[in-house]
Amino acid sequence: MSYENDYFEHKFSQLDPWDYETSRYERAKYQRQLVLAQKFCATPRRVLEIGCAEGVFTALLEKTYPIAKIIAIDISASAITRAKSKTKTVTYRHGDILKKSDLLKGQYDLIFLSEVVYYLGARVPLPEFADIIKRLRSSLTKNGLLVLSNNIDVTEFNPTYIVEKPVVEGYLATMGGYLQKRWSRKYSANKRETGQQLSYQISVFSR
Ligand SMILES: C[S@@+](CC[C@H](N)C(=O)[O-])C[C@H]1O[C@@H](n2cnc3c(N)ncnc32)[C@H](O)[C@@H]1O
Repeated sequence: MSYENDYFEHKFSQLDPWDYETSRYERAKYQRQLVLAQKFCATPRRVLEIGCAEGVFTALLEKTYPIAKIIAIDISASAITRAKSKTKTVTYRHGDILKKSDLLKGQYDLIFLSEVVYYLGARVPLPEFADIIKRLRSSLTKNGLLVLSNNIDVTEFNPTYIVEKPVVEGYLATMGGYLQKRWSRKYSANKRETGQQLSYQISVFSR
C-alpha cells in the first residue's frame, strides 16, 4: 500500500471518511490536543496543521486562536476544497510533504501532526523519516511545540503494520531523538462509528 496522493484522493471520494465531523471519539481527541496546546502555549502567533483533511480540527484551531496565522497542509485537493468551506482565515497549502519540503517553510509556535506520522513512516526508510522530523524541528520557533497524536496498537486494520504498537513506538523513539519530549499520555476509548476500542497517544515535543 502506498500512502500517496491516489490513496488519499480515493479515501476522500467518500465524504468525511474517518467520521471527523460527527464522532465523539474524534472530538474528544481534538479537545485533548487543544487543551494541552493551550496549557503549554496559550497565544501562538503562527500555527501549522499537517494533514488537515477536511478541516474539522482546522476550524477548531481557527476558533481557538482567532488572532494567530494558521496554515494547513494536505496531500488531497478534495480534502482542502472541503476544509476551505469550514474556515475563513486559514491559508491552505496543497501537496505531499515528503515530496515538497517547501510546504513546511516558515516558523511556527505550534505544529499539529495528528494521525499522519505512520503514513509518512510507511513510505520512507527511517533515516528519511528522521530527516522530516529534523525539518519539522527547524520549523519550530525557539519555544515552539509540536503536538503529536496517533492511534497506536490497532491490530484490526488491513494493512495492520502502520499502527501496530512497536511500529508507532519506533516513530516516537525516532522523534524523541531529535525533539525534547515534554509530555505524553495514552488513552483508550471506543469509537462508536467503527465499533472499535482504540488506543491513541498524544505527545508534546519542543526543540
Ligand atoms: C487520518 S487523516 C488525519 C486528519 C487530521 N489530522 C485529524 O487528525 O483529524 C490523515 C491526513 O493526512 C493527509 N496526509 C497523509 N500523508 C500526507 C503527506 N505526505 N503530505 C500531506 N498530507 C498528508 C491525508 O490526506 C489525510 O487528510
